[in-house]
Amino acid sequence: MKALLLSGGKGTRLRPITYTSSKQLIPIANKPVLFYGIEQIVSAGIKDIGIVVGDAKEEIKSVVGGGKKWNIKITYIYQKEPLGIAHAVKIAKDYLKNDDFVLYLGDNLLHEDLRGFVSDFKRKKLDCKILLTEVEHPELFGVAQFNKKKVIKLIEKPKNPPSNFALCGIYIFNKNIFPIIEKLKPSHRGEYEITEAIQNLMDKKFKVGHSFVTGWWKDTGKLEDLLEANRIILDRDMEGKISCKIPKDTKIQGRVNIGKNSIISNSTIRGPVIIGDNVVIKDCYIGPYTSINNGCSLNGCEIEYSIILENGKLEKIQGRIDHSLLGKNVEIKSVKKMSAYISLMVGDNSKITLGGRND
Ligand code: TTP
Repeated sequence: MKALLLSGGKGTRLRPITYTSSKQLIPIANKPVLFYGIEQIVSAGIKDIGIVVGDAKEEIKSVVGGGKKWNIKITYIYQKEPLGIAHAVKIAKDYLKNDDFVLYLGDNLLHEDLRGFVSDFKRKKLDCKILLTEVEHPELFGVAQFNKKKVIKLIEKPKNPPSNFALCGIYIFNKNIFPIIEKLKPSHRGEYEITEAIQNLMDKKFKVGHSFVTGWWKDTGKLEDLLEANRIILDRDMEGKISCKIPKDTKIQGRVNIGKNSIISNSTIRGPVIIGDNVVIKDCYIGPYTSINNGCSLNGCEIEYSIILENGKLEKIQGRIDHSLLGKNVEIKSVKKMSAYISLMVGDNSKITLGGRND
C-alpha cells in the first residue's frame, strides 16, 4: 500500500501567511503540520509516500526531503493548478499505479491509530474506506447521510446537513477510483470533488466502508483551528525539557520545553509552552499554549495562546498578544501604551509598529 499526501492547494483561509509559504509547513508545537501526517502514515506501516505539491514545491522539498528522516521513500508529484482533491489523485496515477493507497490531506491532524483503518479495508476487501467524525458545523464539510448504520449518501458542504458526521481528510482507495475520477466534472466551486467521486463509487455499488475517529481530528486550514491544534498538542504530547540555563530571576511554571542555546532572563514562562533553539527572551511573560520557533527574540512583552514562526522579533509591546499567528521574520514593536489585548495574523517579513509609525 502507498499513501498520497496532499500539500498543494490555495490556502486562501490562511492568507497572508500562505502568500509566501505553504500552510502545511506551519509549525504546530514547532513541528510542521505535514510531518504529523507523514508520521501517522508511517505508523500505519506505509513506507512509500507521494506528496502532491503546488507552487510551494521547492520549499516543501527542502523541508521534508527524500524520506530518510523516517526511513521511507518520498516521491513529489507536481500539481500545476489546485483543481481539487480528486484532481490531485488523478495526476498521481502514474505514481500510484494499481496499488491501494491512503489519501491524506496534508493540513489535517489526526490522533488515531490508522493500523485498524488499513487492516479493516484489506480484510473486508473494500474499494474505499472513509473516516468520519462528529463536528459542530457540518455545513462546512463533506457530510454523511445514514440509513440506520449504513452511509447512503455523501454531500459536500450541505445547506441542511443530514447528520453531524463529516468526512475527515483521510481515505483509502483501490484502483477503481480512477475511472470514476476520469468522468468527474468540476463542481459549482470549480473543483474536482473527492466527495462526489466516493458518492459515484457508492452509486455504482462498489464497496465503501466507514469508521469513526475515536481520538481527535483537526483541519488546520484556518487560524482558529491551527491555534486550537497547537493547544491540544502542547497539552497532550509535548514533553517538558529544558536544554539551556535558567537564571534565578526567571520563573518556569508547568510543562515547558526550551531548545539549545536559548537565553532567557527576568521572565515568567507558564506552560505548556515550547521555545525553540537560539531564542532570546528578556523581561517577558510567555503564557500557556504558545509555540516560539527558532531564532526569535522577545523583549518586554506578554504573549499567550499564539504561534511565532522563525526569527520573529517582538520589542516592548505593552498590551498582551493573544490568539495570534506571526509569520517568519516578523518584527513588532510598540511605541505607545496600547489596549490590554492584541490579536494578530501577520504574514512573513512584516513590520508593525503599534501606536506609532514604522521607521
Ligand atoms: P483545502 O483546505 O480544501 O483547500 P485549500 O488548500 O485550497 O485551502 P482554502 O480552502 O483555504 O483556499 O485543501 C485540503 C488539502 O488538500 C490541503 O492540504 C491542500 C490540498 N489540496 C491539494 O493538494 N490540491 C488541490 O487541488 C486542493 C484543492 C487541495
